[in-house]
Amino acid sequence: MTRRADDMNFEIVPLQSCHIDAVYELEKECFGNPWSREDLAAQPSNENSRFLVAASGDEVCGYIGVYELFESCEVANLAVKKEFRRKGIAKALLNEAIEGAKSRKREFITLEVRPSNTAALGLYESLGFEKAGMRKDFYSSPVEDALILTKKF
Ligand SMILES: CC(C)(COP(=O)(O)OP(=O)(O)OC[C@H]1O[C@@H](n2cnc3c(N)ncnc32)[C@H](O)[C@@H]1OP(=O)(O)O)[C@@H](O)C(=O)NCCC(=O)NCCS
Repeated sequence: MTRRADDMNFEIVPLQSCHIDAVYELEKECFGNPWSREDLAAQPSNENSRFLVAASGDEVCGYIGVYELFESCEVANLAVKKEFRRKGIAKALLNEAIEGAKSRKREFITLEVRPSNTAALGLYESLGFEKAGMRKDFYSSPVEDALILTKKF
């Protein structure tokens, strides 16, 4: 399905091998400890992983990585390219992941986020995620605690 965001159209599709290089570049742009190209390339054939890409034509604008297991699902990563931010792309990716998880009878979704990441916190709060706990010194580069957020379906 084509979605409209301000001045652009994008689609949300499953992560495929043709997206790996672009997603790897996005990981390096966004995170101090980016996923490796090999780890990303392993996802399309991992039966527990539901990775989605937001693409505008041939360009990868953002992506989300979710693992589903039994009744739960966990967001492993979510990123949108700088020039495509504040257009609703992350919200669309997360909503698509949630709808897919619900259709497979998952019961809740959980994630970790840096308390300093106001953009991500704003996004998760706008979607009804609630604080469920804290992990001390969870992140490195730079070291920071993690907030654990959860949303029940
Ligand atoms: C966090 C991130 C994924 C948000 O992507 P995005 O596509 O810009 O987010 P959206 O446009 O879907 O925003 C949806 C809502 O989230 C909130 N939000 C998003 N960015 C925000 C910001 N910079 N400041 C405050 N709230 C923000 C707002 O409520 C926004 O709705 P609005 O634009 O109508 O006000 C993006 O900033 C990013 O890639 N950051 C670097 C990687 C990262 O931190 N990932 C999350 C790891 S937990």
